[in-house]
Amino acid sequence: MTPLLFPLHAADALAERLCRQQGLELGRVEQRRYPDGETFLRLATPVAGRQVVLFATLDRPDDKILPLLFAADAARQQDALGVGLVAPYLPYMRQDKAFSPGEAVTSRTFARLLSGSFDWLVTIDPHLHRYPSLDAIYSVPAVAASAAGPIAEWLRANVERPFLVGPDAESAQWVERIAALAGARSAVLEKRRDGDFDVAIGGGNLAIPAGSTPVVVDDIASSGSTLIEAVRLLGREGHAAPVCIVVHPLFAGDAYERLLEAGPAAVASANTVPHVSNRIDVTPELGEAVARALAARRGVRPRA
Ligand code: R5P
Repeated sequence: MTPLLFPLHAADALAERLCRQQGLELGRVEQRRYPDGETFLRLATPVAGRQVVLFATLDRPDDKILPLLFAADAARQQDALGVGLVAPYLPYMRQDKAFSPGEAVTSRTFARLLSGSFDWLVTIDPHLHRYPSLDAIYSVPAVAASAAGPIAEWLRANVERPFLVGPDAESAQWVERIAALAGARSAVLEKRRDGDFDVAIGGGNLAIPAGSTPVVVDDIASSGSTLIEAVRLLGREGHAAPVCIVVHPLFAGDAYERLLEAGPAAVASANTVPHVSNRIDVTPELGEAVARALAARRGVRPRA
């Protein structure tokens, strides 16, 4: 039977495109809050004997997680063959170590929670820093698709002679892959973070050839401070205003407006999180990963 995809938590356009591309049926879910704030949830499309995919953009995750777990459990109780999760943005990946005694390593707890409810997981460019792969913390098959291809394609179509700049050491993995695909050169800056909004970027004096367009690439824009400081540094050093590219445009509060004030030539993001800056479509990458995950489930018994 055709697998069913239930979109939870917005991103309906992306979910619908994914269904069309992969021949999935779009399921209907009813969800509301009781006056006291608790969740009511109903899978209005029958799931018995079918593979179920829950689709959720998990930016600002804390309010979204319980309804997601309720939906997964409801599908299992109603005899779904399996329950997978597509989370284009996978949250709680940045706290991958206790930096001071007593800190919760939320990435591990979150991974345990999701692994307990889902049979598989597909996401895009999770923030892998100290973990080599999602398998280090997820006990179910977890596929990390990449936005590098669509970003490189967007650069080829929209930016003349791009020179890619990563704002910190962690960004090297994305920047180098995209630069290779786009046939561009790249360099990586140095970042020191002393607080949520307190970011200093150094390591400038970049040898950006005349006539090139600097392109700052990062995986996440949260407070926006990293991109803002990178744009400022390039400006101080007399380079052309950079294009900023971000995979997951979380942009907390007025972060996007503050970034625009810093004067980038343009800001483009992938559509992993709905945002006005979305220019880069990652549906095909998600779709391929989902198709592989569903194929791998064929013949696998449902969890007891
Ligand atoms: C962290 O190292 C990530 O790669 C991003 O640079 C970071 O999450 C961006 O956060 P913010 O927008 O708050 O500077």
